[in-house]
Amino acid sequence: MALHSASVNSKLIFAPAGKESHGQAEQFTRGILTRSDLDQTSPIWQFHKWFAAAQRSELVAHPETCCLSTASLPSGRVSSRMVYLKELDAEGFVIYSNFGTSKKAQDLSTNPWASLTFWWEELERQIRVEGRASRLTREESQKYFDTRVRGSRIGAWSSRQSQVLKPIQGDAGDEEDDGRRVLDGWVKETEKRFEGEENIPVPDFWGGLRIIPESVEFWQGRQSRLHDRFIYEKKAPTEESVQEWTLERLSP
Ligand SMILES: Cc1cc2nc3c(=O)[nH]c(=O)nc-3n(C[C@H](O)[C@H](O)[C@H](O)COP(=O)(O)O)c2cc1C
Repeated sequence: MALHSASVNSKLIFAPAGKESHGQAEQFTRGILTRSDLDQTSPIWQFHKWFAAAQRSELVAHPETCCLSTASLPSGRVSSRMVYLKELDAEGFVIYSNFGTSKKAQDLSTNPWASLTFWWEELERQIRVEGRASRLTREESQKYFDTRVRGSRIGAWSSRQSQVLKPIQGDAGDEEDDGRRVLDGWVKETEKRFEGEENIPVPDFWGGLRIIPESVEFWQGRQSRLHDRFIYEKKAPTEESVQEWTLERLSP
């Protein structure tokens, strides 16, 4: 039966398993995670340890790839998209993006809570970060901006991220323009603006966003879906307590 004529009740996808279109899901068998494996002081150090291991393994092509979720208030509508982690420091996790026109910018202007999810399939590891997001200073963002190739710096200036691009009106007879031409025009304008300039300032509407974690979960896949999960949660500061985080095992 052709897909488009499938009845409303027939499932187009059912229990996929990797390359098999249907079957039993694969087992996770690469490792185990116990409390004693984890950094006892901070999830930041633990993340760094796992990230370094992912890089060292040479199995995970881009361990910096993660899913950023934000939610708009008052609707509560959630949106997610892939981004790259660009920095980690004692305060938190930094990504870079457009904060003028993007959806994440709109969401964050109503609600600072955000989450990052990493999935390193080859190591059967997932990490979930939840916390409040705050913009980096212009000086901090400039430092990273300067490391980008010129084309990407021009691109950041040119793109009004997530705005609808419409074909140029009156361009009669040109069926090729599906809206891309507007973007190409913006890029040309930016190139002209910065012609001959080596140092390009970071746009005000672009830069770093730090997710300051309130909870971080480390997940190691195990057989029969009986995974190992540990969550660090930020404690309210007290005068007696030096320990900033609680650490607990979660049921899979
Ligand atoms: C692997 C991957 C990495 C990406 N990295 C970034 C990034 O670091 N920053 C960014 O703004 N968009 C990045 N994108 C594009 C975003 O997923 C998204 O399309 C864009 O940020 C607009 O999203 P928004 O309007 O929901 O905010 C990436 C996409 C992919 C597939």
